[in-house]
Amino acid sequence: MSEKRNFPLNAWYVVAWSHEVGARKPLARTLCNIPMALWRKPDDSVAAVDDACWHRLAPLSMGALEDGQIVCPYHGLKFDSTGACTRMPSQETIGPNVKVRAYPVLEQHRFVLVWPGDPDKADPALAPDLHWNDDPEWEGDGKTMFAKCDYRLFIDNLMDLTHETFVHATSIGHQSVAETPLETSHEGNRVRVQRIMEDVDAPPFWRAQLGKPGKVDRWQIIDFEAPCTIVLDVGVALTGTGAIPKDGGKPDRSQGVNGRVLNTITPETDTTCMYFWSLMRNYKMRDQSLTTLLREANATIFVEDQIVLEAQQAMISRRPDLKLRNLNIDAGSMRARHIIDRMIAAEGQAG
Ligand code: FES
Ligand SMILES: [Fe+2]
Repeated sequence: MSEKRNFPLNAWYVVAWSHEVGARKPLARTLCNIPMALWRKPDDSVAAVDDACWHRLAPLSMGALEDGQIVCPYHGLKFDSTGACTRMPSQETIGPNVKVRAYPVLEQHRFVLVWPGDPDKADPALAPDLHWNDDPEWEGDGKTMFAKCDYRLFIDNLMDLTHETFVHATSIGHQSVAETPLETSHEGNRVRVQRIMEDVDAPPFWRAQLGKPGKVDRWQIIDFEAPCTIVLDVGVALTGTGAIPKDGGKPDRSQGVNGRVLNTITPETDTTCMYFWSLMRNYKMRDQSLTTLLREANATIFVEDQIVLEAQQAMISRRPDLKLRNLNIDAGSMRARHIIDRMIAAEGQAG
C-alpha cells in the first residue's frame, strides 16, 4: 500500500444500496483502490471478494453465480463467499492456498458496507450511524453519485455550507448562510459544525417546504463521523416559534420542517469516489410524490457541487506543486481531515 493513502482501511464503507446487490449476477465495485465482486447468497447475506480470479486475474464480477458461489468467466474456477476455491475444472484436488481474499460485509439501513482493512478489527459497532435511512419516523430516499474526485473534497464541501450561497445560488443558497458565523466542536472521531440563522428570509426551497409566509429561524447542524460520513440536520421554523430557545433550553422545532441529509462518500480510488446520499424528512410522511420530487431536486442541486469538485480535482492533479489553503470557514473540514490523517497514521504504525 502506498504511503500516501488518502483513506484509512480499517473502516466500514458503504459500497452499494441493498437493492443493488442481487443473487442473479455479481456487482463490481471498487473500494480503496481494491476492485471487488459482490453478490447475495441464498441466505440473503452479501459476500464481497477480490474481483481478480486466483488463476489469471480475470474479473470474477463478469462471471456467473451458482449455488451462492461465484464462477470465474474465464476457466470456470468457483469460489465461495470465504474466497475458497470449491471447483477447478479438469482437476480433482484443490490446494488450500487456492483462494481469493474475502472482505467483511455488513448490511444495515438499506446500505451494504464493506471493511477493506484488518478483518479482526471489523466491529459492526464502528459502522457510521445512518439509521434515519430506514427509521419509520423518517421518510425519504436517495441516490448515488460517482464522482471524479478525492472523497475528501466532498467532506470539505459538506463541512462548510458557505458554498451554498455561491454554488447553489438559485436553489438553497442565501446570503444569510455566508454571513452567519460557524461554531465548530469535536469529540473523538466526530466533528460538529453548526450555523444558526435567526430571523432570516427563507430560501425558495425551504419556503416551499414550510408552506407559510414570514421570517424564519434556520439551522444547519453538520455532523461528521470519520472517515467519510456526514449527516446534516437542516430545517426552518417561523421565527419565534421556539426553534432557537431564548433561555438555552431545548429547541422546539414542532412548528417547522426538519430534514436529515445523509451523506457517505466512499473512496473508490485516490481521485474517484462513490457518494451515497439520501434526503430524509419528518414531515409529510408517506407522500411518495414528494419523496420523488425532493430526491430529484436534490440530485440536481448535488450536480452543482459535482461540477465544481471535479474541476477542483482536475486542477489539484494538474498543479501538484500548489497546496490547499484554509480560511476560517474551513475549520470543520480541517478538523475532519486531521482525524482522517490520524486514522491513516495509526494504521501505518500497526504495520
Ligand atoms: S482466470 Fe479464472 S479460472 Fe482462469
Ligand atoms: Fe453543495
